[in-house]
Amino acid sequence: MKPRRPKICYCMCIYKDELRETIERESLRTVEQVQQSTGAGTGCTDCLDWIQNLIAAVEAEAKPAACPQRQAQAG
Ligand code: FES
Repeated sequence: MKPRRPKICYCMCIYKDELRETIERESLRTVEQVQQSTGAGTGCTDCLDWIQNLIAAVEAEAKPAACPQRQAQAG
């Protein structure tokens, strides 16, 4: 049985993993940038919240872990 590969944009037939890869590779930070680069979200627009969430997830993973020493100095 093939593993399920989640699709994020059904209109443009774009899968979550390939969209994530493009967001990371091209440093896309807005839904508009993703639309222009990939075409995702340019049909019915029902997937825009999913795209936004994926951008946020990529950004969160890209941020370096907080330095405990700096947090102690700031607090
Ligand atoms: S599902 Fe993405 S534009 Fe329709």
